[in-house]
Amino acid sequence: MVSPVGIVNPVGMRLTFGIVLVSSLGPNANTELPVNDSASTMNAKPRISILFVCLGNICRSPLAEGVFRSVVSERGREAEFLIDSAGTGAWHAGNTPDPRSMEIARRFGVDISAQRARQVAADDFARFDLLLGMDRNNVRTLRERAPAGNADNIHLFLDYAEGRIIDIPDPYYGGDDGFASVYQTIREASETLLSRLD
Ligand code: 4NP
Repeated sequence: MVSPVGIVNPVGMRLTFGIVLVSSLGPNANTELPVNDSASTMNAKPRISILFVCLGNICRSPLAEGVFRSVVSERGREAEFLIDSAGTGAWHAGNTPDPRSMEIARRFGVDISAQRARQVAADDFARFDLLLGMDRNNVRTLRERAPAGNADNIHLFLDYAEGRIIDIPDPYYGGDDGFASVYQTIREASETLLSRLD
């Protein structure tokens, strides 16, 4: 097997070259199948792996995963990204996204119903180029859990995308308005994030 070739780009992110086959649906959306064909590898674009993280992985981060994937797809840039989401907590592991998240996404043409919640795993810190927390509590928890030397890739989503140190508020205990507002914030930040990763 050929080892991936990595470079560090101007924003300090490790970029890995290689073809990776990824299903955009289902809990195994991050399954990687490296192809060690040298011609394919030479033609491949750098691949950036992003893990969106919230507390339960049923409200905000599934929306971020689905909306960012949708924005990437609209721009025809699927081959450049590996996108996943997880929660710092395990309470909802294996569950579908919250119905209110699925509904607001569906209204904007994004189907997130095949996603299943999972907790952040120890190897996520090394596997992903970016771990983007929805709020500062998520970021703090991730930094506490990161193995030594693996915290540089952990950021607040809106800070990394837009330079705004603002949380995406947890809509879980609120009404549908909260989900609509979270959706809009995530949609705008996803577009800005993708431009930033040009
Ligand atoms: P999320 O929202 O972190 O955006 O998925 C929450 C979902 C569930 C809970 C809290 C927040 N909960 O306490 O179960």
